[in-house]
Amino acid sequence: MPVIRFVREGRDVECFPEENLRDVALREGVELYGLKGQLGNCGGCGQCITCFVAVVDEDGVEALSERTPVEEAKLRRRPQEWRLACQALVDRSLLVLTRPQVRLPDAEARLAAARQAPLPDGPTAWPVPPEAELEESEDGTPANADEEG
Ligand code: FES
Repeated sequence: MPVIRFVREGRDVECFPEENLRDVALREGVELYGLKGQLGNCGGCGQCITCFVAVVDEDGVEALSERTPVEEAKLRRRPQEWRLACQALVDRSLLVLTRPQVRLPDAEARLAAARQAPLPDGPTAWPVPPEAELEESEDGTPANADEEG
């Protein structure tokens, strides 16, 4: 599953592939909005232009879905790496800076540290039952399968 590394917050958050970036941030308690967006945002319709994020790793642009027509129109005068979180679907792991319009203290050091730490890519390990539970009987059914009758 993809991991979103929120650089400002110093947090890694796992999400489902194709999950909406805004939905993930809100679910995980990551503050996307500045004061204006906190006071009133469009709820993810792509109209208020307050859910800016910046993709801050070199390969990260392809980790999100392509810019939507709404973003092309609304982000015309913004840096190319900026996105509207409500319009972006997460395909792969990436590094994101929330509220890129707000100064990040120690920006260079924090970005360097975030880029240096390994970022999981692809599925993470799921808990695996103990080997004994996976043993198969001679007829190919799991050894612990319920018997009929
Ligand atoms: S929440 Fe309004 S543009 Fe994204």
